[in-house]
Formats: sequence, C-alpha cells, structure tokens
Amino acid sequence: MDVIKVTDVTKSFKVFKERSSTLKDRIIFRRKNKYEAFLALDNVSLTIKKGETVGLIGRNGSGKSTLLKLLTGILYPDNGSINMTGKVSSLLELGAGFHPDFTGRENIFMNAAILGLSKKQIKSKLNEIITFSELQEYIENPVRSYSSGMYMRLAFSVAIMVEPDILLIDEVLAVGDAAFQQKCMEQLMKLKSKGTTIVFVSHDLGAMEKLCDRVVWINKSKIVDEGKPRRMIDKYLTYLGEEENKRLIREDEDISNNLEELKVDEIKEIELTQDITNETTSLTEHETVDRWGNRNIEIIEVMFTDENNNKKIGFMSGDFMRIVIRYKVNHSVNSPVFGLGIHTIDHINCYGTNTYIDQYPIGNLNANDNGEISFTITSLDLVANTYLVTAAVHDINGNQYDYHDKRFSFKVSSTVSDVGIAKLNHHWINENSREES
Ligand SMILES: Nc1ncnc2c1ncn2[C@@H]1O[C@H](COP(=O)(O)OP(=O)(O)OP(=O)(O)O)[C@@H](O)[C@H]1O
Ligand SMILES: [Mg+2]
Repeated sequence: MDVIKVTDVTKSFKVFKERSSTLKDRIIFRRKNKYEAFLALDNVSLTIKKGETVGLIGRNGSGKSTLLKLLTGILYPDNGSINMTGKVSSLLELGAGFHPDFTGRENIFMNAAILGLSKKQIKSKLNEIITFSELQEYIENPVRSYSSGMYMRLAFSVAIMVEPDILLIDEVLAVGDAAFQQKCMEQLMKLKSKGTTIVFVSHDLGAMEKLCDRVVWINKSKIVDEGKPRRMIDKYLTYLGEEENKRLIREDEDISNNLEELKVDEIKEIELTQDITNETTSLTEHETVDRWGNRNIEIIEVMFTDENNNKKIGFMSGDFMRIVIRYKVNHSVNSPVFGLGIHTIDHINCYGTNTYIDQYPIGNLNANDNGEISFTITSLDLVANTYLVTAAVHDINGNQYDYHDKRFSFKVSSTVSDVGIAKLNHHWINENSREES
C-alpha cells in the first residue's frame, strides 16, 4: 500500500533581488521589492510504500528539506499533489515546534498534543520520553537554555514515542553525540522492524546505507535517480568526485593563468635586466622560464588519470594514479629518455626517475610519430598536499628535447592527518611485559 504519494510537485520560492535600504525610501518611493522565482522542486514524483525506509541524498540546496516540509504540510506545492496516509511525525529543523520559554516537560506535552496524543496518553508516555532523552536533570529548565544536541534529544524522543505511521527526519541526528546517535539509529531500526514508514535525509551516507531500503537522489531540484542504497551512494559519490575534479581543474586553470601573467612579467624583467647589462643572451623561440628544449620531441599534454583512464586532478592518498605524457616527434631521434619529477608546492623534490634509470628503453622515434607514454603508480602514497610535476624528454646525455619544469599539478587528500611528504608503509606493535614480583 502506498502511504506517501507525491505527484508532479513543483515548489518555487521568491528570492528578493533588492531591498529598499531605508524606511524613508520605502515610504517615499513605495518601491516594490524585485524578486525572482527560484524553483526548489521541479516536477517531482515519488511513491513510498508502507513500511519502506527511504533515504534522500543530494548536495546542499538540492531540495531535500523542501520536499520533507511539503510532506509534513509546513509548505504547500505550487503545482501537483501530495497524499499522506497515517499519523505523520517529523523531526525537521532543530527546535521547530518548541516554545523557547516553556520547560522541556511543557514542550513534550505541547508537541505530543500537536502530534495527536491525548493528555492521558502523553502522561503514560512522559517518563519513557524523558528517560530516552536522558534530560532528567534539565527537564524543568526552559528549552531556550538547551544546547543543540539537547534540543535534538528532546525532539527525537517525542517524535518516536508517539508511535507514528510515518516518520520524517531531516538531518538533525548529526548534532547528537556519538552515543546518542547510536541510540537513535537503534531506535529507528526498531521502528522500521515494526513497520513504520521512514523518510530520512542525511549527509551521513553510512547511516543511509545501514537504515534505508531505497535511496532517492535529488540534484538541482529534480529526482535524478533512485534505487538500492549501495548503488545510489556509489553513483552519488562518483558524481561528487567528478564535480570536485571540475572545480580543481577550474582552480588549476586560474592558477596557470595567474602564473602565465606572472611569467610574462618575469620575462619582461629578464629582458629588462639583459638590456641594462647589455648581455646578448636572450630567451630563444622555444624557451620560457618553465619550458625549454629544442622540441625534436614535443610533449603536447601531461594528464593524470584513474585506472579507467578518466582524467583526474584530485586523488585520495593511496589511490591508483597514472601520469600520461602525450608527445609528437618533430625530428627523428634515437633512444630518447622520458622523465618525471614530483615536487611539493614549496618545491621539495619528492621523487624523480626516468626511462633510462628504470631500464625501459624507448627505441628510435621517427618524425611525425605521435605517442603516449604512461607512468603508473598503483598506490599514491603521498600525504595530503598539492604536488607539482615536471615532465621531460631528452637524449641519453641529458640534452633536452622538451622540458616542462613543474608545469602540472595534482592534489592529494587524505582521511588521516599524517604529516611529511611520503606515507611510508608501516605498522605499529606494542609489546608490553610486566616483571613478575
Ligand atoms: N523559504 C525559502 N525562501 C527562499 N528560498 C528557499 C527557501 N527554502 C529553501 N529555499 C531554497 O531552495 C533550495 C533548496 O533548499 P533545501 O533546503 O530544500 O535544500 P537541501 O537539499 O535540504 O539542502 P541541505 O543539504 O543544505 O540541507 C535552496 O536553494 C534554498 O536556498
Ligand atoms: Mg536540508
């Protein structure tokens, strides 16, 4: 049986563009505030069956809370319809539904009454609610003096003790301490096993996977996909990773543009100095401050990819990483050597090698050949930082065909905060012995 049915729902908000600055302005000019309609939910349809636990995931501002508010009835849709069957209890924004000047106990009565319990029913549940919230010491204090975690404890305890048919939860659990969060999860599992329908919004994807039967992914006001939690979470994380990559590429381009500008200035400065000292040397056609060589072989692109050859700039420490050098041969050469160097942003050399050191002979390359040489790192054991990469191709004696000095960059993030440059493969052992007395 469908207990939640959302059909073609659209919801927009007025976003005011400019405000009259003073009261005088408003009175004299009677200027109307200009606004634009912002579409927070765009033609959304969703059906939830009795007893299902459905998670909503999506980036900040994608429309999850708006959907929950529509389900609760705090907001009304512009178009479309919403049908809810059964008693709905909701945990939306923190403190919503509480009166700040009333005590915790008084708020329990008010809240439970709003949720449809009689005074007698509330009295019989009161102790259970207070015990669950662990707020015995504070229950006679006005809730205005509560911390956000305490607010949440009270709201959660009331919301679940009224035994709703449908429970809507938006994010709030995150403010609870680890022990209370654990307790909430256990309680939600219990409700789930009793057949309560739950709609759960959270950025805690672990909790999402543990609790939900189905996950709905909302992006930019639309439902983009729904399905089994693991699959949806993977898809969503892949999307987030791609978005992060795009951002890093944009940032990288900005940095490169700034560097280009800087370089032009630097070159001008060099030329200026040379004029002053009357020296004859100047940068040749093929030389800039960070690239030189005769271009018999030309490096045309250096990119970083994952194992599926997708371009990436952001990596996690320990990730697979491939550095791909694309080149073009302008004049035939014998046995060229390709090399790579990795440096920290403050120019500390982390590692460098080349095909000669690694005994990987390239052979002879003919004019007009195009090629790609890749350098695979199965585990990128660097600590979190931004790294600069030098790529070069030269002859066996080190005469450069094309040398790109720290012209490429990638970023490493890590889930741990170890320090230094390289993550050394390691483990700890503690052997503790006590002298027998
Ligand atoms: N009352 C409002 N007035 C104007 N705009 C609003 C209002 N409520 C929400 N919005 C806008 O609607 C969009 C969706 O907001 P919503 O709160 O539903 O996002 P969300 O998915 O819950 O995000 P988060 O993960 O940050 O909680 C946002 O761009 C938000 O600014
Ligand atoms: Mg929200």
